[in-house]
Amino acid sequence: MSTQIIRPARTLQGSLTVPGDKSISHRYALLAGLAEGTTRLSNFSTGADPHSSLACMQDLGATIVHKEDKTIEITGTAGAFLQPAAPLDCGNSGSTMRMIAGLLAPHPHTFTLIGDHSLTLRPMERIRKPLALMGARLDLVDGHAPITIHGGPLQAIDFDTPIPSAQVKTAVLFAGLQATGTTSLTESIRTRDHSEHALRAFGATLTRTGEKLSIPGGQRLTAIDATVPGDLSSAAFFLCAALLFPDSNLILDSIGMNPTRAALLDVITALGGKIKVLNVEEQHGELMGTIQVNVNPGGPRGMHIGGALSAQIIDELPVLAAIAPYTSDGITIRDAKELRVKESDRIALVAKNLKAMGAELTEHEDGLSIPGNQQLHGAVIDSGTDHRIAMAFSIAALRATGDTEIHGAEAAAISFPEFFTHLDELCQR
Ligand code: S3P
Repeated sequence: MSTQIIRPARTLQGSLTVPGDKSISHRYALLAGLAEGTTRLSNFSTGADPHSSLACMQDLGATIVHKEDKTIEITGTAGAFLQPAAPLDCGNSGSTMRMIAGLLAPHPHTFTLIGDHSLTLRPMERIRKPLALMGARLDLVDGHAPITIHGGPLQAIDFDTPIPSAQVKTAVLFAGLQATGTTSLTESIRTRDHSEHALRAFGATLTRTGEKLSIPGGQRLTAIDATVPGDLSSAAFFLCAALLFPDSNLILDSIGMNPTRAALLDVITALGGKIKVLNVEEQHGELMGTIQVNVNPGGPRGMHIGGALSAQIIDELPVLAAIAPYTSDGITIRDAKELRVKESDRIALVAKNLKAMGAELTEHEDGLSIPGNQQLHGAVIDSGTDHRIAMAFSIAALRATGDTEIHGAEAAAISFPEFFTHLDELCQR
């Protein structure tokens, strides 16, 4: 385990390019592996998680070439995955495990999906259920990985997703794409729609009527050329850091601004950030633009985050909670029970680490109430091997008195290997 020492900063200045979006990288990797032809991807995420998706595709018969100019070429299996020789290792990646389960279930082989300790603790019944309704047999161990998929022909279903999860939606859409009949899915709360855009980009037909998505089965995919937009969830750490310093000025290049992810920008604005978006472009249904942020004098304000908003910014909640003590009115987060089953129990771990830094707060089953106007001190932080916890508390450390030690800092590489280098470059001390 590695430790990073974070010293307090005076301000944050400069420009930054973050890695390609993790969610989009996964989807392009998985669909490219199924498609016919060679997909060329620029700005693919440098995070370990999407590389788990790529490695699984290689084990299933796709050819992956890392070019010198950093593009990745994936030659797909044209709809016919091979029987892998060994279990498919999803590493730390819940997205890989849940989405690939839907992609593989219609194929006439036996697949075993394994992952690291954290992934083995995460709930998998949520994907077993719809895939079983379609006719697939998935064996779990007490609701968890390892998962054995006994694949075969699937029938379309009409499914209501009980939990807001883009991963579950994607598993159903990827299975529906290859089933007999038209699969429909209704979401209780609309989640990120990268799978819908990616499926269309690879040539699939998919419709949305109101809250209902429908995908006809028996479709084949064709390779694409694409540039992955920068990851807004990675940019979030720096947007939140900027909020802590009244004279900060940051430019973030080519960031994904898909409306199902961009609620974060409204939150940053509500907290006192002044955001300008420049050069907006669209590719394969995904928007991207350059974001400039400065901060209103007077420091960050507070807010209540709840309802559908919590689902829309679920990955950004740890860093928002970590800066909450420095806001004038505090931040309350509710309706975010899903945080308890992410790479760690993010509610418990945020509470533990904020307390270690001297903060007062109240923990709820579905969130946290964190009063504002609190000065934190440096402390020893436990990342719980969770990338977003390691990075969130590195941001909280910038305004603390004294140095902070982030234990298990290497976890940042799951989504953002360059995080600590960028933090050092942008912080003025
Ligand atoms: C993701 C969906 C979210 C999110 C995760 C990435 C995706 O998970 O937390 O980091 O790429 O679809 P859930 O689908 O479990 O909410």
